[in-house]
Amino acid sequence: MAISYFITSTGTGIGKTYVTTALIRLARSKNMKVAAFKPVISGFDKQEIAASDTGEILAALGEAPTDEALAKISPWRFKAPVAPNMAARAEGRTLDCDALFSFSRNVLREDADVTLIEGVGGVMVPLDDEKTVLDWIVAAGAPIVLVVGDYLGTISHTLTAVEVLRAKGAAIAAIVVNEGQGKGDVASVPFAETLAEIAQWIAPIPVVAMRRGGDGEVLTPLLDR
Ligand SMILES: Nc1ncnc2c1ncn2[C@@H]1O[C@H](COP(=O)(O)OP(=O)(O)OP(=O)(O)O)[C@@H](O)[C@H]1O
Ligand SMILES: [Mg+2]
Repeated sequence: MAISYFITSTGTGIGKTYVTTALIRLARSKNMKVAAFKPVISGFDKQEIAASDTGEILAALGEAPTDEALAKISPWRFKAPVAPNMAARAEGRTLDCDALFSFSRNVLREDADVTLIEGVGGVMVPLDDEKTVLDWIVAAGAPIVLVVGDYLGTISHTLTAVEVLRAKGAAIAAIVVNEGQGKGDVASVPFAETLAEIAQWIAPIPVVAMRRGGDGEVLTPLLDR
């Protein structure tokens, strides 16, 4: 059976692209046919494609960053590095959520062994002035991989995200606790303790530990469906 995931997070910069590209590489190493998308990207600079989420996903897929590939993987691109509704507004545009939702349903129907969609920002980032990523998740219908941090405060952020996802009936396939760099001024909690705490609170959802610099091996259960 084909596998698909919507990769979302408790916020921006937590590790969605890191986990998405690790999953792409892992699937490719198992000779699985992979399709991956970052349909909405803000802070996009055409001069810096390689450094963008789209560029990283294309590199993991082993595809060249051509205009065609860019348009296919990230049809909605905005310059300002802010929430999509604000980034679109800055360009006198509005993100067409109906088009985004049907694009997502269509790519999930394509014939790949694994299809991944990376969201944008966190679970409730505004897309236009009425809809958030949560509406997109519901419309797309793919199981969720929720990437969360290990910083002080992550437990509340994680439980809040899980609660709203559950309230909308979204299926959470796994929570990936991604080890961050730590923030100098905040007392850090040992990674293992944060992991155990999250696992206990969100059971029976499986929890995956992604260490700093870790590869996709820990994500293997996600491809074993
Ligand atoms: N486990 C990790 N080990 C090493 N570096 C990591 C890890 N996780 C994330 N990073 C790095 O931290 C930064 C932020 O991660 P990433 O880009 O994956 O976040 P994101 O959730 O996709 O952000 P955005 O909301 O902008 O899409 C990147 O430079 C990434 O390479
Ligand atoms: Mg990203």
